[in-house]
Amino acid sequence: MPKLEVNVDHVATVRQARRIDEPDPLTAAALAELAGADGIIVHLREDRRHIQDRDLILLRRTVKTRLNLEMAATKEMLNIAREVKPDLVTLVPEKREELTTEGGLEVAGHLEFIRDYISQLKDADLEVSLFVDPVARQIEAAKDAGAGWVELHTGAYAEAKSEDEAQALFEELLLSARHARILGLRVKCGHGLNYQNIKRFRGHGEFEEFSIGHAIIARAVLVGIERAVREMVVLVNW
Ligand code: PXP
Repeated sequence: MPKLEVNVDHVATVRQARRIDEPDPLTAAALAELAGADGIIVHLREDRRHIQDRDLILLRRTVKTRLNLEMAATKEMLNIAREVKPDLVTLVPEKREELTTEGGLEVAGHLEFIRDYISQLKDADLEVSLFVDPVARQIEAAKDAGAGWVELHTGAYAEAKSEDEAQALFEELLLSARHARILGLRVKCGHGLNYQNIKRFRGHGEFEEFSIGHAIIARAVLVGIERAVREMVVLVNW
């Protein structure tokens, strides 16, 4: 059965709007787990615009499911990951000016660097996932670089302007997921997934896990996080 990992960055975004101590992403993570989330994700950005070091350290001690740390492949983050020891490290590209992660990681173009970076994470017994666009070149490079997982970028699919376009982009995701699995990679996907566009994934066992943040936290503002997570769990656990 596919799993759902919930990204709680947006809870920290609301807190940082006032630079006080609420709402706390730790509380959100605990409630998401109670509602059936299989994992919690945070992105510790270089500019610390939402999640803070304190959140990550405390989440490591309190998350009962799995903690997935999204981060850029920098020296600072390598040290933090080694110290905190999340269950999974997801390497993502990061630009200061972006609102959220925009494209997948350029693995093929920086193969040696990424391979070396992954080997340092593996030396610390960390599992590694690479967030990549659903294209063969990047998936094959992820395998060559030594990643155990790929997270396929669903942003283009989520932004499709018509049903036909969405279907075509979904088929690309499916082919990419199959390709990754044949290479021996484990496959998750995420970015822009919501309560509607997730439905097309129903019955496709190619995707082991879904990583969803914005849609769940947006709904949680209106209906509460437990209900928002529970409703997504139903859609993901077919
Ligand atoms: N996966 C990755 C690698 C991301 O960077 C993000 C956004 O932080 C997500 C998944 C979740 O995307 P969304 O918030 O659109 O659900």
